Amino acid sequence: MTRLKDKIAIVTGGGSGIGRGIALAYAKEGAHVVVADVNLAGAQETIAGVEAAGRRGLAIQTDVASPEQVESMVAAAHKAFGRIDVLVNVAGIIYPVSLMDTTLEQWDRTLDINLRGNFLCMQAVGRIMIEQRKGKIINTTSILGSRARAQRGAYCASKAGIILLTQTAAMELGPLGIAVNAIAPGSIETPMVQSAPSTPEAAAKKAAAIPLQRRGDPEDLTGPAIFLASDDSDYVTGVVLTVDGGMTAGIV
Ligand SMILES: NC(=O)c1ccc[n+]([C@@H]2O[C@H](COP(=O)([O-])OP(=O)(O)OC[C@H]3O[C@@H](n4cnc5c(N)ncnc54)[C@H](O)[C@@H]3O)[C@@H](O)[C@H]2O)c1
Repeated sequence: MTRLKDKIAIVTGGGSGIGRGIALAYAKEGAHVVVADVNLAGAQETIAGVEAAGRRGLAIQTDVASPEQVESMVAAAHKAFGRIDVLVNVAGIIYPVSLMDTTLEQWDRTLDINLRGNFLCMQAVGRIMIEQRKGKIINTTSILGSRARAQRGAYCASKAGIILLTQTAAMELGPLGIAVNAIAPGSIETPMVQSAPSTPEAAAKKAAAIPLQRRGDPEDLTGPAIFLASDDSDYVTGVVLTVDGGMTAGIV
C-alpha cells in the first residue's frame, strides 16, 4: 500500500500505544517516520519496526513540553529528511484523580504535555509547513475533550483545549496550504488505559456498553490517521474525527 509514499511524518508519543500503531502503519503506507518521545527506548523500538517495513526512521528523545527540545527535534527531523509533510501529535498523559485531590504539579504537567506540547509542536512544524505551502497536522484529543468524566479533570480540560486549538489552527493555516484536524479516540487498549485502576468485571461491563461491543486497540486508529495524512483528505480541515466504536453516539 502506498497512500503515504515517501511522505515525511513526525509522530510524537510514538514510543507506545496509539502513537506506535500510527508510526508503524504510516511506514507500511510508504512514509519515512520520526518518532519523538520522552521514552527513547520505546521510540527506538518503534523505529526498528519502521525500518523493518523498509522505510527510513529516526528516534529522537523529546519532552514535548520543552520549547527547546521541541525546536531541536524539529530541526533535526528537517535536517535529516529535508521537509516535513505530516505531524501527528499523540504524546499525552493522564492522572486518574479527583479535582479535589489533583496537585498543582499534576495539573501543570497534564496541561504542559497534553496542551502546551501540542501547541509547541504545531508551531515549530507549522513554520516549516508554511514555507512548503503544504502540510497535514493531526492532533489527538479524546471523547473526554467534549464530555466530562469524574477523576479526569485536568485531562478533560487539556483535551477540550486541543479541540479549539485544532480548529483555530485550521482557520489560520488553511489559507497557507496546511490542514489541521484532530482524532478523538474512545477507550483504546494501551498502557495508558491499562494503568488506570479497574477490575476485569468493570472492563467487561464497559466494553459491553459500547455499540460495537469492544474497546478499541491502536490499530483501530490507524485507518483514520492514514486518511487524515493522505491526499484523500485534501478538502478536510478543522474536523474532529471521533473513533470510539459508537460510545458517544447516544444515551444508553
Ligand atoms: N488509550 C485511550 O483510551 C485514549 C483515549 C483517548 C485519547 N487518548 C490519547 O491518545 C494519546 C496516546 O495515548 P496512549 O493510550 O497511546 O498512551 P501511552 O501511554 O501508551 O502512550 C503515550 C506516549 O506518550 C509519551 N509521552 C508522555 N509524556 C511525554 C512527553 N512529555 N513528551 C513526549 N512524549 C511523551 C509516552 O512516553 C508514551 O510513549 C494520548 O494523547 C491520549 O490522551 C488515548
